Amino acid sequence: MPGIVIVGAQWGDEGKGKITDLLAEQADLVIRFQGGNNAGHTIVREGVKWKFHLIPSGILYPGKLCAVGNGVVVDPKVLTEELEGLRAKGVDLSGLRISANAHLIMPYHLLLDTAGEARLGKLQIGTTRRGIGPCYADKAARLGIRVQDLLDPKILKKKIVAAMEPKRLTLRPFAKSPELDLQSMTEEYLTYGHRIERYIADTAKLVWDTLDRDDTVLFEGAQGTLLDIDHGTYPFVTSSNPVAASACTGSGAGPKDIDEIWGIAKAYATRVGAGPFPTELDDELGESIREGGGEYGTTTGRPRRVGWIDLVALRYAVRLNTLTHLVITKLDVLSGLGSLRVCTGYRGADEATFKHYPYHQSVLHQATGAYEDLPGWDDDITECRTEEDLPTAARDYLAFLSEFVGVPIALVGVGPGREQIIWTDAGRSSAASAASAAQRA
Ligand code: GDP
Ligand code: IMO
Ligand code: MG
Repeated sequence: MPGIVIVGAQWGDEGKGKITDLLAEQADLVIRFQGGNNAGHTIVREGVKWKFHLIPSGILYPGKLCAVGNGVVVDPKVLTEELEGLRAKGVDLSGLRISANAHLIMPYHLLLDTAGEARLGKLQIGTTRRGIGPCYADKAARLGIRVQDLLDPKILKKKIVAAMEPKRLTLRPFAKSPELDLQSMTEEYLTYGHRIERYIADTAKLVWDTLDRDDTVLFEGAQGTLLDIDHGTYPFVTSSNPVAASACTGSGAGPKDIDEIWGIAKAYATRVGAGPFPTELDDELGESIREGGGEYGTTTGRPRRVGWIDLVALRYAVRLNTLTHLVITKLDVLSGLGSLRVCTGYRGADEATFKHYPYHQSVLHQATGAYEDLPGWDDDITECRTEEDLPTAARDYLAFLSEFVGVPIALVGVGPGREQIIWTDAGRSSAASAASAAQRA
C-alpha cells in the first residue's frame, strides 16, 4: 500500500500525463491499465516536450518500474518505435515491464478500424484509427493474440489464422495488402517479440509484490470517464473502461488495494471525435480557448472541440470513480476571457431540465447546458505557485467547482511545465504526496 489511481474525469486529454509524471516521483511502480496508443500523454520538463502513447508517464525517472498492464492493447510496431525514440534520447528503460497477457493490435485491426468508420459514414465515431476497437473486440471474442504469443512462432501463426478466418469477408477488399500476408505478418511480429522479450513480465505479480512491501503503486488511466464503453456517451466512446474500477481488472490489483482515486479535469472541457457535448462552444470564444490551450490532439493532431466546464458530467464522474481528489488543469487558459460560465444543469427538449447525467442517448444528444456565470480574471497566473498567489476570482472559481462536485481539489495546473502547479492543503495531506515533499519545497 498505497495504491493510487489516476483517471481522466472528462473526455480525455485532461493532463493525466503531466500529473502522473508529478506523482510518479514518489511511486515505486507506475502501471497503465487500459487503452492503447489511442492515448497521447504530453509532459513538459525544463522546456522539453515528451509525448507518450503506450509507455507509462513515469519512465523519465531513471530505473523507475513502469509497467504496461494486462488491460492495455499493445501495437508492437508503435511500442518498439516509441522505445527506440526514447533510447535515442538517452532515457533509461531498464524499469520497463510489459504484461505477457496484454493483447496485441494486429495489422487487420487497423484496417478494420478504418473500414468500420468508412462504413458508418456520417455516423462515424471519429476513432483514432489505431485499431483499438477491433482489438478489444477480438479479446472479448477470445480470438485475441497476446504479448506472450510473440515468443512462440507456431502458436503465433495458428492464432493469426484463427483470428483472421471469421474476418475473411470484411477483409476481402484488402486481400492483396502485403501487411495481411500470413507469412510476413508472422515474421514481422516475431521480430517485435525479439525486440521486447526482455521487458515481458508477470505484471500482476509485480503489482502485488510492490503493494505487499507497502510501497506505492500508481495506476495510470488513459482516455476519460465519458469515453468509457459502459458508462460514457455510447457509442461515441472508446472500447475499454477508463474508469477507476478498471485499474483493478487491467492490472491484477484487487479493489481493496486502492487507497486514493485522483480525477483529472480541465478548467473547461474538450472532446475529440464525434458524440454529444452539451457545453460545446462552436464559436469565436471556443476558437480562442482552443488556440490558448493548444487544443490539438497529441495522437492525431485533430483540433479538439472546446466548451465550458460541465459540472453535471463531472459530478457523474466523481460518483462513478469514487474520486477522493480532484485535479484542475489549464486554469491559466481561462485568464482574460471575461465572465466564465459553468454548467450546473442541462436543458432538454420540451423545456425539460436535468440535474443528473441522463442515461438515455437521445436525451443527452439534445441536451444543452444551463449555466451559472462566475467572474473571470485578467491576471496572468502562470507564475502562481500557491493558492494565495491566485486572483480572488480564480480561487472562487475553484471553490465553486469543488463544492459543486463534493471533492477537494488537490492540485491546480497553471501551465504545461512540470513546475507550473499549485499544491493545495488536500494535495499536501494526500498519500500520493507523502514522499514528494522535496518537489513542493
Ligand atoms: P492527457 O492525455 O490527459 O495526458 O493530456 P494531453 O497530454 O493529451 O493534453 C493535455 C495538454 O495540456 C498537454 O499539451 C499538456 O502539456 C498541457 N497541459 C497540462 N496541464 C496544463 C496546464 O495546467 N496548463 C496548460 N496551459 N497546459 C497544460
Ligand atoms: P488520452 O489518453 C481524447 C476518442 C477518439 C474517439 C473515441 C474512440 O490522450 O486522454 P478509439 O480510437 O479509442 O476507438 O476512439 O475516443 N479518444 C480519445 N480522446 N483522448 C484520448 O486519449 C483518446 N483516446 C480515444 O477521439 O472519439
Ligand atoms: Mg491525450
